[in-house]
Amino acid sequence: MQIIKSIQKMQSLASELREQSKTIGFVPTMGFLHEGHLSLMRIARNKCGILVVSLFVNPTQFGNDEDLDKYPHDFERDQKLCKQEDVDIIFSPNVDEMYPDSFFTYVDVTGEMTDVLCGKFRPEHFRGVTTVVAKLFNIIRPHISVFGQKDGQQLAVVKRMACDLNFPVEIIAGPTVRESDGLAMSSRNKYLSPEERTAAPILHQSLLFAKELIDSGERDSNRIIAMMRKLIEKKSLRLKIQYIAIVDAETLEPLEQIRAKIMVALAVFLGNTRLIDNVIIEVGV
Ligand code: PAJ
Repeated sequence: MQIIKSIQKMQSLASELREQSKTIGFVPTMGFLHEGHLSLMRIARNKCGILVVSLFVNPTQFGNDEDLDKYPHDFERDQKLCKQEDVDIIFSPNVDEMYPDSFFTYVDVTGEMTDVLCGKFRPEHFRGVTTVVAKLFNIIRPHISVFGQKDGQQLAVVKRMACDLNFPVEIIAGPTVRESDGLAMSSRNKYLSPEERTAAPILHQSLLFAKELIDSGERDSNRIIAMMRKLIEKKSLRLKIQYIAIVDAETLEPLEQIRAKIMVALAVFLGNTRLIDNVIIEVGV
């Protein structure tokens, strides 16, 4: 396994690998790896000759009041986990090389896709994500790249960007990996107090509840959202719902009536920790 920090070195290695007709699979991460990240690596590993994982805490996707400075990291541990997953290359650039003082170009998926859900509360977030992912695609030149359904809006926005800007890369979705009590794995779960951790599975439970309602014929989004809200608020007063939304799974258009393939998504604060989760539900027409 090679560890590469230099952009130029990564870029020339990627070109060499492409010349040798190797298929490059890429999993972008911000490190502090858990089973969710590892599951994406396994998907890419199975499809590609060369597996590249990036470890880069991307400053442009954090708001001023967010957790950039205290974002957890453990490079040694991440390195071991990557080795176990048979990763060929870890790409771990420095912030100064990715964003020198002369940096002025951003990639922005505009409109509703980034105005809704998390985008409404984290206005610059997706611009930071698409900018760094576009840079990483140009540096690593992957044939496929795997993103988690856990960050459903990110997945949809990255797919949009790759399509709109004609990146020659196939974006693949990996299912959300959960703890045994249903809590979606996240690097941020580490911030939860024991009491908050006990309450946290309610996010997933509320999504399963939405699915039950839809399975039993409910089609009115507002009614479903109101019932989910009630369930979550009953659990603990320390839970503060930021949003619950029902949107088209691909376009992220908010839906009043359930139809076709939808995403039920939510963001909830447990104390100072903000957790997100979602489920995709398909209904017959
Ligand atoms: P990060 O939060 O480290 O996540 C890296 C990838 O792992 C993302 O595609 C995310 O959706 C996926 N992931 C996280 N938790 C998961 C889980 N429980 N199950 C399945 N997949 C999961 O997302 C980012 O980093 C950044 O925004 C990034 C894309 C790297 C750009 O900076």
